[in-house]
Amino acid sequence: MKTVKDYIRTIADFPHEGIMFRDVTTLFADARGFRMAIDQLLNPYAGMRIDKVVGLEARGFILGGAIAHQLSVGFVPIRKKGKLPGAVISQAYTLEYGEAVMEVHDDALQAGEKVLIVDDLLATGGTCEAGIRLCERLGAEIVGCAFVIDLPDLGGRALLEKLGMKVHVLCDFEGA
Ligand code: PRP
Ligand code: MG
Repeated sequence: MKTVKDYIRTIADFPHEGIMFRDVTTLFADARGFRMAIDQLLNPYAGMRIDKVVGLEARGFILGGAIAHQLSVGFVPIRKKGKLPGAVISQAYTLEYGEAVMEVHDDALQAGEKVLIVDDLLATGGTCEAGIRLCERLGAEIVGCAFVIDLPDLGGRALLEKLGMKVHVLCDFEGA
């Protein structure tokens, strides 16, 4: 029986030399793999109240859309700077080299709403931390952060747990 991890392809030296890129397009392209991933991402939240699913650009949109549909709730995108058309709030975060900014529409979440944050991969946790801060600034309550892949060597899980988050991952790749 194939696991979610078995559907993920590794491409060496992308986007630059020395990086082992974990490619989820092969997981998403497979009907069984994709459904397995969505079902497993949702597993811990059965019976819990979730008002909205928040997806982090870009692959978090693919997962988050499918999860929101499955739960029959709305989907909210958190995007890189300058992509959202309406009034936004912004949050800077640290990248390997330099800084980037994530944004959410300022009316996308209501105070007290319970949200699930979704992305494909957890590395340093910087991207998700920015997403958490944006959701919290809008008064939402984060039920959990769910990822297909964790790269444990990069410490993202520990960072998010320090922020009080419940982190759910489907598989990890050591030595990333
Ligand atoms: C990747 C990945 C996560 C993020 C994780 O996205 O999809 O969103 O990095 O890294 P972190 O935990 O160190 O923040 P990327 O920034 O490459 O952008 P993309 O999803 O738009 O391709
Ligand atoms: Mg991303």
